[in-house]
Amino acid sequence: MCGIYGYIGKLNAFDEVYSGLKMLQYRGYDSCGIAYFNDGFKIEKATGTLNNLKKPTEKSEIAFGHTRWATNGRVNYENTHPHVSYNGEFVVVHNGIIDNADELRQNLKVDFKSETDTEVIVNLLATLPGETDSRILQLFDLLKGSYALIIGTKGGTIYLLKKFNPLNLLINSDGIYISSDISSLKSGSLYTLNDYDAIKIENGEIINLRGEEIPLIDYTNDIKKLALGNFEHFMEKEIYETPRAIFGTYNYLEEQNNNIKKIFKPFKKLTFIGCGTAYHSCLVGLELLKDLNFEMDAHLASNYEINKPISKNHLHIIVSQSGETADCIKVAESIKAHKGKLLVITNEGRSTITRCADYVLLTKAEKEIAVASTKTYSCQVFTFAYIANKLKNENQDLDIQKLVNNLNEYLTGLNVKPLAKELKNLDKLILVGKDIDYITLLEASLKIREIDYVYTLPMYSGELKHGTLSLIDENSYVLTLNTSENKNKLKTVINEITSRGGNVVECEINLPQNQIQPCFKPIFNILPFQLLSYQIALEKGLNPDMPRNLAKSVTVE
Ligand code: AGP
Repeated sequence: MCGIYGYIGKLNAFDEVYSGLKMLQYRGYDSCGIAYFNDGFKIEKATGTLNNLKKPTEKSEIAFGHTRWATNGRVNYENTHPHVSYNGEFVVVHNGIIDNADELRQNLKVDFKSETDTEVIVNLLATLPGETDSRILQLFDLLKGSYALIIGTKGGTIYLLKKFNPLNLLINSDGIYISSDISSLKSGSLYTLNDYDAIKIENGEIINLRGEEIPLIDYTNDIKKLALGNFEHFMEKEIYETPRAIFGTYNYLEEQNNNIKKIFKPFKKLTFIGCGTAYHSCLVGLELLKDLNFEMDAHLASNYEINKPISKNHLHIIVSQSGETADCIKVAESIKAHKGKLLVITNEGRSTITRCADYVLLTKAEKEIAVASTKTYSCQVFTFAYIANKLKNENQDLDIQKLVNNLNEYLTGLNVKPLAKELKNLDKLILVGKDIDYITLLEASLKIREIDYVYTLPMYSGELKHGTLSLIDENSYVLTLNTSENKNKLKTVINEITSRGGNVVECEINLPQNQIQPCFKPIFNILPFQLLSYQIALEKGLNPDMPRNLAKSVTVE
């Protein structure tokens, strides 16, 4: 994972990299560091977020840095990037994982200062024979695994290397920018590196070491500066942005209009794939499309393998907010390798996964900063509801303005603070529901685990008596959800719990009086749980935007 950012130009390079990394903290925020050039590279690093990083007083025209999500080695100062070679010749930041790092480390007769695979790269480079350019190219043969690298030499030359992990180069009148995420770049002329590209930047000149051209395209970043406004955290802001995000997604899908029917027409089988929250939206998708006579299944990307030819009737649908999730990209590549057809549903139109797709549908939720997916989940569910309506020819019933008004009214009326106060000291919580409510609770459980560090167990209501009931005592809390017409449905289960001393919280979903199409109900149903997880975090004094051990975008398998 991790974010990497670089700058070479007339502005203060440290400051440019610092602000660039701020936008990449969603990729990891365990620790951070910046190397800046002033008669050799100097380094500032810190554990924790960029707020902990000391800014130097001296100016520099070359700098690059890193914000880390630990994979190789604990979170500590020594393991924080940038890493310097044993002889001071090279400095590196790295996104990815070197699979043969242990083997290489054993063969290198140098003292290591960190536990990282990244320090292996820089020391390997320092021990290779030959001119620097050829040593850089040798890395492609020697390093197994995935990497996007910025390497600086003690003379101030910069090298960029890419294999699997994304890296972009942008030129504008202020200088040259490098980033692992396009959306963090300003406007200018853009080049997205291809695998096995090795680019050298020296005295303002940019050379592809393989001799190939660097085709630049115009890139305009019209993303508005992301500010909290009146909100305390991005998670809260993003939950309240759900109605607007749904409206944007609707308008976009309307522009696609007949495309949707065209996409689905040739297929008889649909396979939905995603990770975490996106997987849960796939499960809702299965429910919403179930009357359409498709053969359908859903899988976690990390648990899906293709080992036989894909039939031409079979459409794979990958859902990924970021479009950068490594588990999803691996599946996407495998689908392409098996000549299968792929539809990607993503919030990031220029993301890596879109390059593997035959069809792309965007959710127009605008940028999501908080690690927890909230408005993007609702937009994914909305997209499936829209597709289902379109394929059933029921779109004429969709009054978007009414839906948006209902969502706004509903959100404004929600008050989960009392429940958050009641649950704030819990370290475990069982959540029980049936049918589509169970899927809502899968997602609710993930949110409460992720943001509040509470051990949550989502259960099908009927399953409780087949083993899990033994957990129930007077300290247990069970949260139930029943949005079906039949209010008696969970009665027996609730009795089973209370008669064993357990505490039950029956979650009431009071939808607005205006009639709401059933396919949109999952969007309403998740909102109180998103807000609940947010409020519990506040009650516990946790930062909901940056939960421990996590990152927004999981770019390693
Ligand atoms: C959601 O709150 C999580 N942060 C996580 O499960 C996320 O949905 C998952 O990592 C998939 O990410 P993607 O949608 O960007 O592929």
